[in-house]
Amino acid sequence: LWTPANIVEDAIATVRAQVGDAKVLLGLSGGVDSSVVAALLHRAIGDQLTCVFVDNGLLRLHEGEQVMAMFAENMGVKVIRANAEEKFLSRLLGVTDPEAKRKVIGRTFIEVFDEEATKLQDVRFLAQGTIYPDVIESAGAKTGKAHVIKSHHNVGGLPEDMAFELVEPLRELFKDEVRKIGLELGLPYDMVYRHPFPGPGLGVRILAEVRKEYADILRRADHIFIEELRKADLYHKTSQAFAVFLPVRSVGVVGDARRYEWVIALRAVETIDFMTARWAHLPYEFLETVSNRIINEISGVSRVTYDISSKPPATIEWE
Ligand code: XMP
Repeated sequence: LWTPANIVEDAIATVRAQVGDAKVLLGLSGGVDSSVVAALLHRAIGDQLTCVFVDNGLLRLHEGEQVMAMFAENMGVKVIRANAEEKFLSRLLGVTDPEAKRKVIGRTFIEVFDEEATKLQDVRFLAQGTIYPDVIESAGAKTGKAHVIKSHHNVGGLPEDMAFELVEPLRELFKDEVRKIGLELGLPYDMVYRHPFPGPGLGVRILAEVRKEYADILRRADHIFIEELRKADLYHKTSQAFAVFLPVRSVGVVGDARRYEWVIALRAVETIDFMTARWAHLPYEFLETVSNRIINEISGVSRVTYDISSKPPATIEWE
């Protein structure tokens, strides 16, 4: 019988049988899949699990603190937070091509993850939040004793010498099932039902060159947009919503002073499968509230635009 409780019970038994008393490492991103794996493995094997959370400086506002609060403080999961913002940002200097950015971010992720992993002793297993659609997507790819980390991170693989055995407790599940299991394991509704967030994070939402100044502005604008969507009960009526940083200056007037500041674009879409998407027809009054808040609260922004492009041809992300 498919009930979340049964699936959890089953998965716990399977994991225990597979890993015995060996140690397991998990890359925790804060996304739904890796969070559910963390909660599940923590319940199954407790302290045998160590998570590595890589803060690449391209996360949403307060995200690192939230991940640490939820898993380390509340649940007592062992989580190592690797603060690698400087490393990521310095590698990204001068990189403007979207695919090049993805590669830099992916490679740097592996390097940081690898550094943390090597510090740990006797780890035999690598856990991953692979779900059934990922399995189908990468059908034909090598499985088993592998050096793969989820395609989510857009990386080719871990270094050859890190030959872990894989633990993938969500391999047979669809996203909606993973969410139900997350709830069953006590994860909060808001985290389990959040919009997807790309592996390269804000790196592909800052057009052209990524700079810390831009990332800080974008994080605040994005936070306002999401906060207002939740407040207006519109968050779950959109499939994905976020802000984009446009590195162009536009004139604005505040009081008597002219400002020559950056532009923020808002993007919200409705979609079932993310292959096609319609721009979300958010109410004008709502957009007005968000725009006013962003311009008034963030001094580096003088103008807000709303993206009315559907996919195809426009992709959901701007890069
Ligand atoms: P596009 O922009 O291709 O996005 O219409 C479709 C979905 O994929 C997400 N996306 C990514 N996710 N790494 C990811 O993990 C990436 O490089 C990446 N690019 C796009 C995007 O957020 C949307 O949900």
